Amino acid sequence: MKIKVKTKQRNYDIHIENSCLSKASKYFNLNRKVLIVTDTNIPTKYIDTIKAQCKEPFVYIIKAGEKSKNFDNYWKISDYLIDNNFSRKDCVVALGGGVVGDLACFVSSTINRGIDFYNIPTSTLAMVDSSIGGKAAINEKGIKNIIGSFYQPMGVLISLDTLNTLPKRQFYNGVVEAIKMACTSNKELFEFIYNSKDLDKDIKHIVIKSLKIKKDIVERDTNEQGIRKILNFGHTFGHAFEILSNGKLYHGEAVANGMLYMSSNDVKEKLIDIFNRYHINLSYKFDIKDIIELIKHDKKASD
Ligand code: GLY
Repeated sequence: MKIKVKTKQRNYDIHIENSCLSKASKYFNLNRKVLIVTDTNIPTKYIDTIKAQCKEPFVYIIKAGEKSKNFDNYWKISDYLIDNNFSRKDCVVALGGGVVGDLACFVSSTINRGIDFYNIPTSTLAMVDSSIGGKAAINEKGIKNIIGSFYQPMGVLISLDTLNTLPKRQFYNGVVEAIKMACTSNKELFEFIYNSKDLDKDIKHIVIKSLKIKKDIVERDTNEQGIRKILNFGHTFGHAFEILSNGKLYHGEAVANGMLYMSSNDVKEKLIDIFNRYHINLSYKFDIKDIIELIKHDKKASD
């Protein structure tokens, strides 16, 4: 299955298959120096499968978790590319979840003023949302995604079997972003997720439908001047909760809590029901003063 994305910056394809890591070189140009950026949770066999298809592979492994999306890793990866003489003709491949993707994309957008970047998302969250649309970012001064750019990938490869090794909490964490996508744009998708009897079986449909929603919005508003802002549903409070929980809440979990703050009572009721179904922790409480302090830095804020 292939989804074509057309943006002002670049057009690219998203390939979605069941077991396709071994086909990366069919879809991506790996016949050059390739830096694979990945994290400590990614099985070695996935890294080796990609490495084996590269002409000149390099691997950079960051510690798994949101705290790694920082300037320190940005410098280190950039230095690693410089030390190994990567030129504009070479490329970077992100292999992992949203943290790896956002960080590797940001490095790619700035090194040599931009080199080719491919994304191979291995988490539900990255598959349904963060791997497409080109949002590159790192966190700084305790503020989520405050430094970054829009930099579209050259291609995205989704191998659904990688979800088999994803911890269940992470799996549901990503489903929240699909629920968000459905809430903003597609009632049928919401009902489908709500009524699913077997999410593992239904995840392919959920990934494809979510990506089609996102593709449509990103094509209309790549740099988030208008309609793309709806994809931030729940994120204003969510980003604050994620930071204030000091890593205890995953991104999707924090967004789920944030969505409740922005919903009318009847919508909230339905959301609580679906989040409970997928084991999302809704019991966190934070000080409103701390929340407001962080919300001031929301990128949609004005005046
Ligand atoms: N994750 C929201 C967006 O890409 O716009």
